[in-house]
Amino acid sequence: MDLMELFFVCLGAAVVVFYGVKMVRFAKMLYPRVCFPQPDSFFTSMGEWAVVTGGSDGIGKAYAFELAGRGLNVVILSRTKDKLDRVALEIENYKSDQLQCESLGQDVPNSPARDGEEVFLERGKGVIVNISSGVASVPSPMYTMYCASKVFVERFSQGLQAEYKAKKVMIQAVAPFGVSTPMTGYQKSNMVTLTAEDFVRTSLEYLQAGDKTYGSICHTVLGWMVQAVPQQILHSETMQDSLLEYVKKRVGT
Ligand SMILES: NC(=O)c1ccc[n+]([C@@H]2O[C@H](COP(=O)([O-])OP(=O)(O)OC[C@H]3O[C@@H](n4cnc5c(N)ncnc54)[C@H](OP(=O)(O)O)[C@@H]3O)[C@@H](O)[C@H]2O)c1
Repeated sequence: MDLMELFFVCLGAAVVVFYGVKMVRFAKMLYPRVCFPQPDSFFTSMGEWAVVTGGSDGIGKAYAFELAGRGLNVVILSRTKDKLDRVALEIENYKSDQLQCESLGQDVPNSPARDGEEVFLERGKGVIVNISSGVASVPSPMYTMYCASKVFVERFSQGLQAEYKAKKVMIQAVAPFGVSTPMTGYQKSNMVTLTAEDFVRTSLEYLQAGDKTYGSICHTVLGWMVQAVPQQILHSETMQDSLLEYVKKRVGT
């Protein structure tokens, strides 16, 4: 075999390995229960309490219910005390005599990171889930600020996960696309737009799937598709115009 032949054989093998690994990683996302199994006791083994910011509505509320259903006491935070009290009552009725649900009405631009950090490190375990967004997968015109802020959430979580992995604290960015909530005008749910309850249930199956997940099969596929479309097409005037029309229609202007 001459040198040129050897070069092409090695190149071919490298391409096969590269895409092979990508395919395997993708396939794992299709079977979260098999590939990232977690015992029923997983959540309670992490601690007795879960703190859910934005827990009075939408995705946060669904997390609060799901985690209460899995045996945790929950603290929910948001700005509106009335809403929080209502949801706290709903959760208490939904689940149980032994569970407690605390609601705290406050603006929470700064989470109590320092205290939380000390507690997690002392206990040598814990899970933090930060909600990013599927739109952060690619630069998204018309959602520029939102997208940029979600990229921050993602990188922040991934950096922290690298720092705290050895301390046994799991930190994950979850990046859904459409979820039917007040924020999205209760968009009709379908194969792509999930109900908050379905999204939360599936996203928790991906907790052990690494520092970032789309949280469901359909959003994983969507994420891969969006990243595969050339940006010249995604960012074309036609696409931007149709997106603008869509957004205007949704907000009714
Ligand atoms: N829905 C989607 O399709 C989708 C997709 C990707 C990512 N996400 C992300 O998922 C997260 C939740 O979205 P959602 O759709 O569930 O929204 P939502 O239905 O509007 O709920 C937002 C929750 O956050 C609370 N909140 C808002 N501003 C707050 C503040 N400054 N301080 C404390 N609490 C605050 C709200 O309660 P109060 O108003 O009472 O404070 C409410 O409980 C957001 O980060 C969003 O960007 C959503």
